Parts: sequence; C-alpha cells; structure tokens
Amino acid sequence: MPMANPITIILIVSLMFSLFNRSLAINRVTYNVLDLGAKGDGKTDSTTAFLKAWSAACGSPGPATVYAPPGRYLVKNAHFKGLCENKAIIIKIDGTLVAPSDYDVIGNAGNWLLFEGADGVSIEGGILDGQGTGLWACKSTGKSCHSGATTLGVSNSKDVAVNGLTLLNSQMFHIVINGCDNVELQGVKVLAPGNSPNTDGIHVQLSTGVTILNSKISTGDDCISIGPGTSNLWIENVACGPGHGISIGSLGKDFKEVGVEKVTVKAVTFKNTQNGLRIKTWARQSTGFVRDVLFQHAIMTNVQNPIVIDQNYCPNNKNCPGQISGVKISDVTYKDIHGTSATEVAVKFDCSKANPCRGIRLEDVNLTYKNQAAKASCANAAGTTSGVIQPTSCL
Ligand SMILES: *[C@@H]1O[C@H](CO)[C@@H](O)[C@H](O)[C@H]1NC(C)=O
Repeated sequence: MPMANPITIILIVSLMFSLFNRSLAINRVTYNVLDLGAKGDGKTDSTTAFLKAWSAACGSPGPATVYAPPGRYLVKNAHFKGLCENKAIIIKIDGTLVAPSDYDVIGNAGNWLLFEGADGVSIEGGILDGQGTGLWACKSTGKSCHSGATTLGVSNSKDVAVNGLTLLNSQMFHIVINGCDNVELQGVKVLAPGNSPNTDGIHVQLSTGVTILNSKISTGDDCISIGPGTSNLWIENVACGPGHGISIGSLGKDFKEVGVEKVTVKAVTFKNTQNGLRIKTWARQSTGFVRDVLFQHAIMTNVQNPIVIDQNYCPNNKNCPGQISGVKISDVTYKDIHGTSATEVAVKFDCSKANPCRGIRLEDVNLTYKNQAAKASCANAAGTTSGVIQPTSCL
C-alpha cells in the first residue's frame, strides 16, 4: 500500500473530528419516568418522578428527552421551571397524565401543569385528563368551590412547540399561553362538554408570535380566547364546536391595558357554537385597543352570533361607571365568511359611543337564517364593503 500523502491524512483526521463533534451534538439523553419511580397504573402518585425527569433534562448540557411510555400516570400540580442548561428539551408522552379525582387537590393551584421559563421545549403527543367534572358539579350547586386549575400553562417562555396533544375535561382553561414569544401549537385536540363552565380551549395573552394550527376544540367556553397584549397571532385550520367561538376579549376590564394587534384567523369552522368570530370589550374606561385583524375563510353552521363586536359587556350591570368602553377597535376585515346563523341577527357591530369602530371591512360575506337573508345591526361602526354581502350591510 502506497504511503498516504500528508494532505490526505489531514483531510481524513479533520473529517473524523467533525463527525465525532456532530454525534455529540445529536446525542440526546432520555429520562424515562418509569426509571424514576413513576407507575402507569393510574393510582400511584407519579408527580415526583415527572419532576425528577424534568430536573435531569433541564440540567443536561445537551438535548434531553423526558419520556412517559404508554400508561396512566396520576400527577398532582407540578411546576416545570427553567431556565434550563439546554434549549432542546422534548417531553414525549405516549400515555395519559391524570389529575387527582379529588378536585380540591389542584383546584387552588392556578395551573395543574405549569411550564415556566421553558425556552426551546417541545411537548409531543399524549393525553392530559383534567378530571374537571367534580369541580363543575360543585360550581353548578352555587356552593363556594375553588375556581379551578388550568390544565397546561406555559409562561414566560420562548420557542415552545406543542404537537399532537389531547386535553380532556379541564377544571378551568385547557391551555394558557402567557408572556411568551414564538409558540407553535399544532394538532391539539380539546374535548369537554358544551355545558362545562370556564373551560376555554386555548387562551393567549401578553404574547407575540403564537401560531395555532390544525386543531379541533369542543368545549363549554371560548374555543380560543385572545387576551390583552397579544400580537402576531396566527390561527389556521381550526374546528370549533360546541363552544363560544373564537374571541378577542374580554378586553378593557382594567384601565391601563396593552392592546391586541396583528391577528389572523383563517380557514376555521364553527358548528353549533354560541359565537363565531367575536370581539368583546367591557363597557369601562381603558387604554386598550384592537387593530389589524383579518378573519378569512370561515364556515358557520347554526351559529348564534356568527360575526359580533360587543363593546357593552358588563355582567350584572356592575362596575361599569358611565357604561362606555375605552377600547379602540380599528382595521378589522371579514373576508369570505359563509354559512348559517341560528338567530336572525347574523352580523352585529355594537361599538363604543366614545370610541366608534373604524375601518371595518366586509368582503364576500353570506350568512343565512332559516334559508332566508339574515339581518345586520350596527351602532357606532364605520367601514366599507365589497363583493357579495348578505345580510345587507349596516356600516
Ligand atoms: C348565499 O348563500 C345561499 C346559501 O348557500 C345561496 O342560496 C345564495 O344564493 C347566496 N347569496 C348570494 C348573494 O350569493
């Protein structure tokens, strides 16, 4: 064999070195909750095992996975806290996490499962069963009960992904995204009865760059609710019903409040819901606003209020001095919205006397009521129309 020349040797050595480096980078460690004391029998408290797996993954200098194999894991309220040593943690769930059947255990905790400072975390698959029925029953008796826990909270985190997660029967909201930047929720399923109280599907607030795709939400309150301080929100291909629709609001409860802007809601369907596309503000003074919103390609089936802006929200007519909303609503477009209304008034713009809605645009809207033209009603709303508009515009 001829002597390799020095340049060939240098090339081979540097190639081996770079392959070695790459294998270090993709060398992901996995922490299986079963190895840390969890049991998938639905009875053994596995909270500590999940927290241990999280701590190990969070302390790992390289990519790490928390893995829950098939099984039912009883988990009490748990706080998965960052910041972590790496920004590539995967929570891979092939089983079901079950909340305690005694609803008081987590009812006062705010969140059942809370991720905070969890930059770069992805949650993949799994079922989260909030076991909310007991608490809802308590609430319906009028007795004093805990307000209930959000099933999955994600707070003050960047670059988070949630993929293929199913959430059942949350005590309160199913998912809350709060104070986050760049979150992608995909293939999320929410399932709770149409009469379950305060069980919003996904709530977003004080967050930018949130994307919600290809999801199906059936619940007792808003399918998606959009709170103060939301910007650059993208919602696409979401099926809602039963539920209260997709709602920007309620806004303007507080005087000093950050606004909502750059919201796109695309290719959504509503079936037997209370509302379709809603903007809702308290009849109170506020610095808040809603601007640059696009609602496009929506199909309504038997929806009570398909298109609605309500700036006169004041439950029990309490705490709304002067009854005028300070929230300024502008540049809201409704484009290609079709289907059936369950009530005669299919389009309702009930805007603030002091701050009329501006720049409302309707384009190709066709909503019918009992196979006939529905009605539109406007107060303090200005804007333009183009294309087919049914019911006849009142702008
Ligand atoms: C609106 O939709 C209904 C039901 O699909 C249809 O019969 C009607 O022709 C449409 N109206 C217009 C103006 O396109």
